[in-house]
Amino acid sequence: MCGIVGFTGGRQAVPVLLQGLYTLEYRGYDSAGVALQTKDGIKTVKTQGRIKALEEKIEAGGEISSVCGIGHTRWATHGAPSDRNSHPHESEDGRVALVHNGIIENYLELKTALTNDGVTFKSDTDSEVAAHLFSRAFHGDGVAAMMDVCKQLRGSYALAVITGENPGEMICTRHDNPLIVGIGEGECMIASDIPAIMSITKRFIVVGDGEIVRVRPEGVEVYTSDGARIEKEVQTVNWDIQGAQKGGYDHFMIKEIMEQPKAVRDTIASRITSDNMPDLMSEGVGIEVFKEARNIHIVACGSAYYAGLAGKVAFERLARLPVLANVASEFRYSDPIIEKGDICIIISQSGETADTLAAMREAKARGAITIAVVNVLASSAAREADHVIYTWAGPEIAVATTKAYSAQLAVMYLLALTAAKARGTLTDHEIQNYCRDMKELPSMIEGALETKEEMKKLAELYHDSHDAFFIGRGIDYAVAQEGSLKLKEIAYVHSEAYAGGELKHGPISLIEEGTPVVALACDPALYEKQISNIKSVKARGAKVILITNGDFAIDPEMCDHVVKLKSCPYFMSGSLSIIPVQFFAYYVGVDRGCDIDKPRNLAKSVTVE
Ligand code: F6R
Repeated sequence: MCGIVGFTGGRQAVPVLLQGLYTLEYRGYDSAGVALQTKDGIKTVKTQGRIKALEEKIEAGGEISSVCGIGHTRWATHGAPSDRNSHPHESEDGRVALVHNGIIENYLELKTALTNDGVTFKSDTDSEVAAHLFSRAFHGDGVAAMMDVCKQLRGSYALAVITGENPGEMICTRHDNPLIVGIGEGECMIASDIPAIMSITKRFIVVGDGEIVRVRPEGVEVYTSDGARIEKEVQTVNWDIQGAQKGGYDHFMIKEIMEQPKAVRDTIASRITSDNMPDLMSEGVGIEVFKEARNIHIVACGSAYYAGLAGKVAFERLARLPVLANVASEFRYSDPIIEKGDICIIISQSGETADTLAAMREAKARGAITIAVVNVLASSAAREADHVIYTWAGPEIAVATTKAYSAQLAVMYLLALTAAKARGTLTDHEIQNYCRDMKELPSMIEGALETKEEMKKLAELYHDSHDAFFIGRGIDYAVAQEGSLKLKEIAYVHSEAYAGGELKHGPISLIEEGTPVVALACDPALYEKQISNIKSVKARGAKVILITNGDFAIDPEMCDHVVKLKSCPYFMSGSLSIIPVQFFAYYVGVDRGCDIDKPRNLAKSVTVE
């Protein structure tokens, strides 16, 4: 969390930095700040609150003329959200200003040593130590100073520094936190994520772990941690900035919900052949990868984990391969049992989630073949995995994921079908039929988007509820868990998801007169079972919203509302049933006046443990 940005060039830096910060606000919004090189030395403006508050503070202070500066938007870890804990941090002599994303684990030890040496700290953050260390190590050469600082730091960091002495120069580095450098015409930007540089350029380099970069208007010099100069490949972003703007919608979340047909279409387009077979060969994931596989480990966090649970259903039912799905924060410390030929699929929108990355490294070290299903181009997971399969969902800005989740599901289906082919558990004919169905999925999702108004009305009816339940079985249980998370995080409604059959083992005692229960029933093999579960909550006073693709006769006594979806192969049904559930969370959140795109206490990219 936290977003960092920097600009150097010929134009005024403040508007460029603010624009960059606005695009990074999803990474944290507790405080924000900028530091600028001016003819009178470094000028820093920072404040608790959002970028808007920073913009107002800068305006109130009068114009700052500067063509080089750095900026930061914070998700607080060490030190409460406050003006004094906001970044950038300056050295005592004011020669150096620094922004940091990550956690410096040995900060206390460093702080004690610096304090004993006479340094007075102005904040409670871990980051401030790096500003003081840099200032002490800096004797005119920023790269040499940064090399020295990095040797002293433990933890994760992306750092950017400006000094009063070297006009137009930024020095940056990273370890386990993302950082890119955008390369424009006579101007450069650094940032935590691609959308932040797109106001000046689509061309960028990815800073590697431990590398140190000198950034000037005319270009960059990249050094290894030992000071050897290296060349980096310049990459080009393949989408437009409009993708990262609201485009007339009230919130990014609703825009991104509506973009799901495209996200899925783009994700599968080049991966199903004209004769309707899955084709992940350009990612190196052909049938031979699955031939020797004994177990699949799916590892991820949050919604990405729930996408993994839906993937588990597809893998187990289609390829008859045992799948162990685990949240990454548990997997990494579980002394995981990995056998020869095991495959570890990690799923991550950002490709930077600390626990997911650590879990992937653990699996790799134990001999698993790693496949990363990732949305952000050139992210750490994408670079470190044996194979990367991009979800082409485009930039996802709302903190709560929607379109990346749908694109992840599509990749999981392709992987499961590839494994089924490798293991001979489905005939070519069956696989071709499923692939034909997959090609129809984007237009079926378009059909599911028509539930928008219906879900808006249901949200109006239930937005005052204190609790809600989501129930499902099999694939529906995976979707129930994601739906419940959405309602919690967007609308701040306490919500639980249960496997339908589990209710009677305890949680049913929480069902009261009027408790909303969203019941999913999209797997024909389990309709009858799920109907019995629904009846048991209805009998206890629940208000039941049934989401189903079944054309069975629905007893009006059984549920209060029925949301009908088109039918599709059971393992893909989550791609449709998630849509009304996302709308429900969105509109309940809107009705409750929540901050939809930036829910409290959250940040999109969780780069701390
Ligand atoms: C919820 C949500 C989070 C993420 C989780 C993993 O809407 O977005 O639960 O799914 O933080 O993030 P990534 O996918 O970036 O690894």
